[in-house]
Amino acid sequence: MASIGDHEFGSGLTDLKLSIIAEYLQRYNTALSRQPFFERWYFDAFAGTGERTVRLSGSAEDLLNERVEERIERRRGSARIALDTIPQFHRCIFMEQKKRHALALEALCSEPSYASRKTFVLRGDANRAIQDHIQTVNWKKARAVMFLDPYGMNVEWQTLEAIRRTEAIDLWYLVSLSGLYRQATHRGSALDEKKRAALSRMLGTPAWEKAWYEEDRQRDLLSMLDSEETRRTASLDLMEDFVLQRLRSLFPTVLEPLRLKNDRNAPMFSLFFAMSNPSPAAARVAIPIAQHILTQARRRR
Ligand SMILES: C[S@@+](CC[C@H](N)C(=O)[O-])C[C@H]1O[C@@H](n2cnc3c(N)ncnc32)[C@H](O)[C@@H]1O
Repeated sequence: MASIGDHEFGSGLTDLKLSIIAEYLQRYNTALSRQPFFERWYFDAFAGTGERTVRLSGSAEDLLNERVEERIERRRGSARIALDTIPQFHRCIFMEQKKRHALALEALCSEPSYASRKTFVLRGDANRAIQDHIQTVNWKKARAVMFLDPYGMNVEWQTLEAIRRTEAIDLWYLVSLSGLYRQATHRGSALDEKKRAALSRMLGTPAWEKAWYEEDRQRDLLSMLDSEETRRTASLDLMEDFVLQRLRSLFPTVLEPLRLKNDRNAPMFSLFFAMSNPSPAAARVAIPIAQHILTQARRRR
């Protein structure tokens, strides 16, 4: 039977994504521990349970190899990774909409090794929590890393605007390319208001439609009328670049994203690193760390 913390999702892509986050958190905290006047905070806005289960497939016996049974392995999710980071974060804030996941996070935070730490689990929509509360923090005394790791297109542009206004948060943002593809249908006539709204809410502008679609005039031979249809002509590269340019219009620093593919080599996500802090001193600390990690990850892919 599944335990309260069970939360199963993709393996190779997830391993790479979480290894990047783990390394950044460790290096970031090490670098910032040299500036003791700042508290180091971590925000996990789509936090999951702190654990994940990975199903490792088995194989039949053959001439050279023994039979291997299918195995279920438990690995750390982003919340546990953040809690395990050394040097430690002074405060970890986990946001999670699903009740079962929020309960698992509370159980995680009360484990003996974390119980004396400042941890908070906010149950509900992360967009609301960030937009309503992030500005109330005294950012003169704290610096933070935030991880936005939704399944789909759940992050509102206004949430990113709120993060930008803090001038204190380094952001790792996983953008769902498959979500963009699904909402931005090939035939313009299949784009309904719900899909349009979802894309504009995430990208903070309706301009994607003009950038990604072209008119496709075809003569309907039976009626001899011109039927006007639009088609998405934008490639995946162009759509990803649109996201990059949008983020660059908001944040002082946004690095080239890392594209993450699933086990069948299909592009699923782009992982973006953005800084809300415009100070050159902050950039000198964070950019080389993030750049180095992303370059290594590109080699490993
Ligand atoms: C991909 S999982 C996060 C995995 C996690 N980062 C980890 O490494 O363990 C996305 C999580 O976001 C939660 N979620 C979905 N929509 C949300 C929302 N609007 N606000 C907060 N959490 C949400 C889901 O319940 C799910 O647990």
